Amino acid sequence: MAETIPFIDLRSTHADFIQGYLKELENLFQTCDFIGASSKRVAAFEEHFARYIGVKHALGVNSGTDALLLALDALGVGHGDEVILPAFGFIATADVIVRLGARPVFVDVQPDTFNVNPEAIEAAITERTKAIIPVHLFGQICDMDAIMAIAERHKLPVVEDVAQACGAATADGRRAGSIGTFGAFSFYPTKNIGAAGDAGIVTTNDDALAEKIRRFRDHGRTTAGTFECIGYNSRLDTIQAMYLAHKLPELDDNLLDRIENAKLYDTLLAEVDRSLEIRHGERRPLIERPAVPGDLRHTFNLYTIKAPDRDRLKACLAQRGIQTAIYYPTPLHTTPALAFLGYKGGQFPVAEECARRCLSLPVWPGLKRQQIQRVVHEVREFLENNTFIG
Ligand SMILES: Cc1ncc(COP(=O)(O)O)c(C=O)c1O
Repeated sequence: MAETIPFIDLRSTHADFIQGYLKELENLFQTCDFIGASSKRVAAFEEHFARYIGVKHALGVNSGTDALLLALDALGVGHGDEVILPAFGFIATADVIVRLGARPVFVDVQPDTFNVNPEAIEAAITERTKAIIPVHLFGQICDMDAIMAIAERHKLPVVEDVAQACGAATADGRRAGSIGTFGAFSFYPTKNIGAAGDAGIVTTNDDALAEKIRRFRDHGRTTAGTFECIGYNSRLDTIQAMYLAHKLPELDDNLLDRIENAKLYDTLLAEVDRSLEIRHGERRPLIERPAVPGDLRHTFNLYTIKAPDRDRLKACLAQRGIQTAIYYPTPLHTTPALAFLGYKGGQFPVAEECARRCLSLPVWPGLKRQQIQRVVHEVREFLENNTFIG
């Protein structure tokens, strides 16, 4: 059997610096400067990250989930409030709203970019709306100009969920996480820049909100050492900050690799579609590729297609040693944990169609050209040997 193509190979993401990092760890175990609140190494990483994103403040926390939770808490989201978010995405974005006693209000997404539909956001605003969370899904920034215009009209704060899109940018170069009131990033190992465990960061240009996050993440402690609000234990560990500090200078090169890989998929899958179109006289493309409107910088944390008979395609690829993943098989509004919100299937047809048809192909930096060619070859075989359409 041919060599397995993993969905992601994390070893390739630290191969170039792991020896240097291990040396630094030896030193850390002498200084024992382990915890984020006082660590100079954490502060150095935060400064570097803030410069990369183009914001005044970056505050390291425990995870992307905590980044969202602390940001919403700092905005005063609580009982009786509503927060608007897309119906297609990861549960963490909804979890944190529920944890604060507020209600997640779902809206539908766009069929070609998978990102939230700005018009649907505006239609969902009520007098109870307290914040909007655009999620930059799969690595592509949302239509932030449209979303910020709506937010400004209704005087609402925006928390960008940048978990999957570190390094993504608008056509004029504004980075995701620098546009809304807050950016919430995850450094989960498979993200564009992943830690060696759980970690996250909050970005903002607002001095007062930054100070709130600084206190929240350390039990509400002030610089004078008193506790002036109820906070969390959500500090970024030095071990993670040091690892991330090695990765940050490599981020843009890694993103270029992802973008090149995605381009190759686009070209090869378009060829497959063209040849099958002729053979079957079928006009609609059999595989829908991810759309990148205008000159947005999509970072392809995930290369996600829409495929006919997705589950069978996934099983067929797996049989031939190609690992793929489904993000996400269930839209948020029909997720069992959120059933108490009272949403029903059929309410967000685009999100539901994405959940039925989306399949993510391997796209990690370091994936070889021949491996992508093999993935596409197997996709073609599957399409050629089946007469289904739809
Ligand atoms: C869109 C989105 N938001 C939030 C999170 C939560 O991040 P973490 O796993 O670091 O808590 C994730 C992680 O997968 C995510 O994909």
